[in-house]
Amino acid sequence: MEFIDEKIETYSLTHSQPETDILKKINRETFAKVLMPRMLSGHLQGNVLSMFSKMIKPMQILEIGTYTGYSAICLAQGLQQGGKLHTIDINEELEKMVRGFFEEAGLSDKITYYTGNALTIIPDISETFDIVFIDADKKNYAKYYDLVFDKVRSGGYIITDNVLWSGKVLEQAEKMDAETKAIDAFNKKVNDDERVENMLLPVRDGLMIARKK
Ligand SMILES: C[S@@+](CC[C@H](N)C(=O)[O-])C[C@H]1O[C@@H](n2cnc3c(N)ncnc32)[C@H](O)[C@@H]1O
Repeated sequence: MEFIDEKIETYSLTHSQPETDILKKINRETFAKVLMPRMLSGHLQGNVLSMFSKMIKPMQILEIGTYTGYSAICLAQGLQQGGKLHTIDINEELEKMVRGFFEEAGLSDKITYYTGNALTIIPDISETFDIVFIDADKKNYAKYYDLVFDKVRSGGYIITDNVLWSGKVLEQAEKMDAETKAIDAFNKKVNDDERVENMLLPVRDGLMIARKK
């Protein structure tokens, strides 16, 4: 399901900051060489993440689900001087390519890239985060939220991708597959969590924005 009319999306993109050369390259190479290229955030959502980051001016960002590095590079645009983005992915096969992209973007010294299971890596990261971006396996969304919650500063943000799951969250509960159930349960969990203010932003596949009170 496309949430935004194609012509409106094209118009919006032609009236927004263009993709940088490195983001264009990541987009092109991901579609040419990597499995499931639709997982990449892309121009519209990349601009949203980059703009949010510039508004928040974070010192520390955590990303769960690096894939080919597109969203990491967008989020890193708002880092304060001396700030760091930590990004985790379980897929070791992409490591060489992703490190090359971070190097080419001039961000190697600002990005700490971990390969492995985020569920075991997150407890060992001792930073306090201004932004956490959750974009890994959907069944663990609620676990990631719980794992990072105490590591987010008061006034910090947890942003979670794909929370509309191509519109499948509208299906009747008994017809939902396991991933859709997990995402729907996650949306309800965040919405019921009195420790945050939240809004579900229907951009691309849906971004849940939760601000820790
Ligand atoms: C949707 S992609 C991330 C897209 C990327 N954030 C972007 O916008 O370009 C999801 C990624 O999560 C990773 N992943 C899945 N399970 C994981 C886990 N348990 N720990 C760390 N990464 C995981 C996958 O290998 C995949 O690269």
